[in-house]
Amino acid sequence: MTEQPLLVAEGLHLHFGETKALDDASLHIWPGEVVALMGPSGSGKSTLLHCLAGILQPDSGRVAYHGRDLTAMSDSERSALRRGEFGFVFQFGQLVPELTCVENVALPLRLSGTGRREAHRTATDWLERLEVGDVAGKRPGQVSGGQGQRVAVARALVSRPRVVFADEPTGALDSLNGELVMKLFITAARDTGAAVVLVTHEARVAAYSDREAVVRDGRVREQEHAR
Ligand SMILES: Nc1ncnc2c1ncn2[C@@H]1O[C@H](COP(=O)(O)OP(=O)(O)OP(=O)(O)O)[C@@H](O)[C@H]1O
Ligand SMILES: [Mg+2]
Repeated sequence: MTEQPLLVAEGLHLHFGETKALDDASLHIWPGEVVALMGPSGSGKSTLLHCLAGILQPDSGRVAYHGRDLTAMSDSERSALRRGEFGFVFQFGQLVPELTCVENVALPLRLSGTGRREAHRTATDWLERLEVGDVAGKRPGQVSGGQGQRVAVARALVSRPRVVFADEPTGALDSLNGELVMKLFITAARDTGAAVVLVTHEARVAAYSDREAVVRDGRVREQEHAR
């Protein structure tokens, strides 16, 4: 049996008013691969990521996950798919400030019905894998940027998603911290077999990918092997 792509975007068009954010963008993501989306500011990287994740609906074109057409699903079907199969890491973690770090990581499990004890045990394991076990009891406002991003990565991976979407996950960190976050993130994602779609401006971050796709003027212009 030949392997099928996990996620396919075909001929996506999307306008924000007069602005053409996506102009015939197409991309395939294969199971377990790490793909870096590169390209100039305003070229459509975040928009493409949000369409692939079913957060934004394109004006036309198709996004399919495991052959299921996201663009034809109802909003509630799409959010169920996001909760069950996808994980997210954003530039500024976006952790819940009122919860401790371990509670933040446990949250996706709690929301899908896992008991408190079990959820906390699993969350604690993930914090340790990301080498931030020591901040478990702190709130996000009490940890450093790099620690916060590692907590955000733990939260994205805790429910064992098939795809993790990351939009400049190290964009707010200095290069040393960024490097450590990327190393731990990609190692953990590869361990679980999750595919990663990673938006970045930095060649150093893209070097962790299997493949680079360059977005220009709303279109995926080139795809080259990073290594
Ligand atoms: N919500 C929005 N409303 C209006 N225009 C938007 C919106 N989101 C994005 N755009 C526009 O769509 C285009 C693509 O934006 P997008 O955020 O995808 O770029 P990007 O490649 O992620 O840029 P950056 O590297 O700066 O994050 C830009 O011209 C942007 O100004
Ligand atoms: Mg962006």
